[in-house]
Amino acid sequence: MNRKEFLRYGSIITVGAFIAGSTGASAMTAFTEGEYSTNASGKRPDPGDFDQPILKAIALGINAPSAHNTQSWKFKVINDLEMELYVDENMLLPATDPPSRQIHMGAGCFIETMVMGASRYGYSAEVSYFPEGYANEADFGVKPVARVALNQTGIDKDPLADFIEARQTSRMKYKGSLLSQRDYDKLVKQAGKSYSTLTFINKGMAPYLDIFYRAMEIESRTYATNEETREMFRFSEEERKAKGDGISIPQMGYKGMIERIAEKSLKNGDHDTWHSEKNIKNTMKGIKKGLDTTKGIVIWHTATNDFKDWVLSGRDYVRFSHAATKNGYFLHPYNQAIQEYKEMDGVRKELDALLNIKSPQKIQMLVRIGKSDTPYLSYRRTLDSYLTK
Ligand SMILES: Cc1cc2nc3c(=O)[nH]c(=O)nc-3n(C[C@H](O)[C@H](O)[C@H](O)COP(=O)(O)O)c2cc1C
Repeated sequence: MNRKEFLRYGSIITVGAFIAGSTGASAMTAFTEGEYSTNASGKRPDPGDFDQPILKAIALGINAPSAHNTQSWKFKVINDLEMELYVDENMLLPATDPPSRQIHMGAGCFIETMVMGASRYGYSAEVSYFPEGYANEADFGVKPVARVALNQTGIDKDPLADFIEARQTSRMKYKGSLLSQRDYDKLVKQAGKSYSTLTFINKGMAPYLDIFYRAMEIESRTYATNEETREMFRFSEEERKAKGDGISIPQMGYKGMIERIAEKSLKNGDHDTWHSEKNIKNTMKGIKKGLDTTKGIVIWHTATNDFKDWVLSGRDYVRFSHAATKNGYFLHPYNQAIQEYKEMDGVRKELDALLNIKSPQKIQMLVRIGKSDTPYLSYRRTLDSYLTK
């Protein structure tokens, strides 16, 4: 047994305890490893470390995007082929995301990434949403958002499944020409069927970009939301590696010397430095530089605004993101203007009016799109850290 096999065997035992706890048995399924057994970055779970199909699919699902990289997911493994997904009620963003709408979108992002991942191994996935009902925040973390059952049907690999590890948010300056309607249509087609409605803007972007900028300034100047960002910020590579989540200066698109200077200037997250006028002004300068290079805007909205709308639009977002990755584009969500806290009420209404969105319709996601250098790859936590009984 070589070291890799030994490690792999070790993780089977660890995780197997959870499976045995819920079913009393662990029916192993034959598996072909294929070409995806390693995660080259070393920053994310490696599906090759697990033998159970459900754990391989979960390991791939963990590559999904989530607001502030909170990864607010809990997994209850039922057996080799089934699991339940819960939101992690200890990883919410109450100031920035009072209804936990974005947290549930993150659950949808996980589901879509996991389902695509399972297809690499020939498994289709059946997803049942809120199988025990879901009424309000008392259910967060207590009742499942979804139950996922894999079936070995030998289905073809999802054409977007090759881009799971490569998909990244880029907050960098975007290069080249505007995204054309034709190129956008190609992304929509490759993303496939969408539950939410997409809007594309590549002309007359100025009023939207102005709203994005002002909304970002409100988020930065509102103590509670700015403080929440500080809490999710990771101020050194050691901290990023140790915690495996959150956002940081390199994730904001800074590289090399500028990255080092910017990171140092934040003094390891010192409270007063973070909230200082100087830091907010510097942040806003960077925001403007990025926004000025926007090559198109994509907006997702739903006809209603309930838990399922949130989860399904998360799935839509991930499919579109993977189509973007496939074609060399990056996305950068700019969700400040749609957030549901009182300081944002004015700007949120302004954006809704501009897009003729009327309640109960809801904008679920807005992004800038373009081509950039490859950004810094964000970390994920280890798979066992999300497991629950
Ligand atoms: C629902 C949702 C909302 C997000 N909102 C923002 C946002 O407003 N601004 C931003 O810069 N990134 C936003 N992101 C991107 C996340 O910060 C990003 O996915 C996370 O840091 C992980 O990085 P990755 O996408 O490169 O894997 C959002 C992602 C999701 C899923």
